[in-house]
Amino acid sequence: DKGNHRHFMEKEIYEQPEVISHALAHYVDLGDHTVETSICGAIDFASLRSLAISACGTAYLSGLIGKYWFERYARLPVEIDVASEFRYREIPLAKDQAALFISQSGETADTLASLRYCQEAGLKIGAVVNVKESTIARESDAVFPILAGPEIGVASTKAFTCQLTVLASLAIAAGKLRGTISSDEEKQLVRSLSEMPRLMSGVLNAIEPKIEALSRELSKYKDVLYLGRGTSYPLALEGALKLKEISYIHAEGYAAGELKHGPIALIDENMPVIVIAPFDRFFEKTVSNMQEVAARGGKIIFITDGKGAAASKLPTMETITLPNVAEIIAPMVYSLPIQLLAYHTAVFMGTDVDQPRNLAKSVTVE
Ligand code: F6R
Repeated sequence: DKGNHRHFMEKEIYEQPEVISHALAHYVDLGDHTVETSICGAIDFASLRSLAISACGTAYLSGLIGKYWFERYARLPVEIDVASEFRYREIPLAKDQAALFISQSGETADTLASLRYCQEAGLKIGAVVNVKESTIARESDAVFPILAGPEIGVASTKAFTCQLTVLASLAIAAGKLRGTISSDEEKQLVRSLSEMPRLMSGVLNAIEPKIEALSRELSKYKDVLYLGRGTSYPLALEGALKLKEISYIHAEGYAAGELKHGPIALIDENMPVIVIAPFDRFFEKTVSNMQEVAARGGKIIFITDGKGAAASKLPTMETITLPNVAEIIAPMVYSLPIQLLAYHTAVFMGTDVDQPRNLAKSVTVE
């Protein structure tokens, strides 16, 4: 049932504040802003030398953001790869490592094969899944449900932000177990997480009209580039993936710092550049990349916050201004304009948004 929405994808985008609340209630204490280390289950983060993460598509990109968090907050090195490479790379593994597999369906063939590879090497296995009865969940030592509810739209939206919510909670718990975050930091991080549902509802209500108008414009282009730094880099990859999947417009995501190592050659007035840049410790660097785009006649769509919008004087095709948010929740909050932009652009293009051509919801063959 789509309720009063035109597509499941739109419904699922709007469900995010609610399903994230459910996920948060399961993983963190919303009253005293702490995380129980028992949420880690059979994964003994305290004694790990490193963590391996593998997944496909959007789930892989949530894992990439998770890597930034595990490394920063838990000082735990993370090895991550797409499952189709991970399973065949003959990665040397040892028992003082653990492995985490992320999958909405819990049935993705390559992800399952990567899991079995790690199991054979004797690693403890954790699964971040939406479908709790899935094969990947059944074959794991610790199951971390994302509690997103059924996701019908082929393009993943609420599963992505719920995966992020679970990974952030686990990274904080791992940091606590490893003694790499103080209890003050823990409280601050969990307080930020707890503010997410309210902030996301506000953003959804505020940005839709602007995004719709911008999408009409974007649907006229053949190529789009997404740029970001830090956790906004995987988000740039996710933005490009979402746009190409459902609108069939060619899109690429790049780490903003890679611009001058190749993609800058593509910049002209025919390729809009979507810059994801909250006012964080990377902001100045990203703005200097934006300058390089502007100097070559590139059209910029700037997704930032109030402070970022005030700090940059560059002309843009459009600026989407979000509230100033804590760094740990920026990837979830900034997912909203990214998802809505892909959604409305696809609607303007007249594609089959919920069932894009050539794609399947669950990829059970290699
Ligand atoms: C993108 C998308 C796919 C899936 C990928 C993994 O919107 O839906 O990239 O994320 O096929 O699927 P799961 O998470 O079921 O393993």
